[in-house]
Amino acid sequence: MSDALAIEMLEAGYEPGLPIVRGASLTIGTGEIVAILGPNGAGKSTLIKAVAGLVPISSGRVELTGRDITGRPAHLLPHEGLGFVPQTENVFAKLTVAENLELAAAILKAPRGRLSALYDLFPDLARQRNLPAGRLSGGQRQMVAIARALVGAPKVLMLDEPSAGLSPKLVGIVFDKLVEVRKSGVTIVLVEQNVKVALAIADRAAVLVEGRERIVEKADALADDPQVAAIYLGRQRERA
Ligand SMILES: Nc1ncnc2c1ncn2[C@@H]1O[C@H](COP(=O)(O)OP(=O)(O)OP(=O)(O)O)[C@@H](O)[C@H]1O
Ligand SMILES: [Mg+2]
Repeated sequence: MSDALAIEMLEAGYEPGLPIVRGASLTIGTGEIVAILGPNGAGKSTLIKAVAGLVPISSGRVELTGRDITGRPAHLLPHEGLGFVPQTENVFAKLTVAENLELAAAILKAPRGRLSALYDLFPDLARQRNLPAGRLSGGQRQMVAIARALVGAPKVLMLDEPSAGLSPKLVGIVFDKLVEVRKSGVTIVLVEQNVKVALAIADRAAVLVEGRERIVEKADALADDPQVAAIYLGRQRERA
């Protein structure tokens, strides 16, 4: 079986000649949860935004389930099987939960039944379907964003800092949900500052430094690696 996502020697950035992602390579197996960690400014968000078609790629290649999607515009990628949950502004705050999901379903021409399957996966959202997304708690809003990204039944779901701004309890609830999402057959790529919770659900993790993966290891090995903790993750570890 091919990899779910293969990133090969990717170079990407916001301005020509100023790469932020500098030759990053990472393969993600089907069904894996992979965390992308690393210090502030390492290029974690830029890397997944480049994969998601939101930052120009100057060289390298991205394959989704064996198909070349390098530089494919963001609006086409959900049709190709890629879901992306940005860190901010990931729901329409004035629209209800139902409208957020129905809009995504209409754009993606999702089959009938897709939304009810998602409401089964997110029973809280079913209960709150008529509330504006902006009125929900941070954790519930994050659930709406995740559900929206799942409307197109992605093979791979990428999330940028899903724990940001959430209380530890809500982080636990959101991350438990991600484990459930993986069980439903979705491969997950997770950018996180919260190293502890990311490693708790990830199979493997990559530490990105200066736009390139410095270490790629099994999550449990990385969690126990004092050198890694000291060099790259020290501050986050103390905070976690
Ligand atoms: N929209 C942008 N335009 C220009 N430069 C940007 C933009 N967004 C980020 N950068 C720059 O790219 C570099 C990497 O930023 P990026 O957001 O990818 O890092 P990160 O690893 O996600 O960091 P953090 O942990 O703080 O989220 C930084 O130097 C940043 O200033
Ligand atoms: Mg970031």
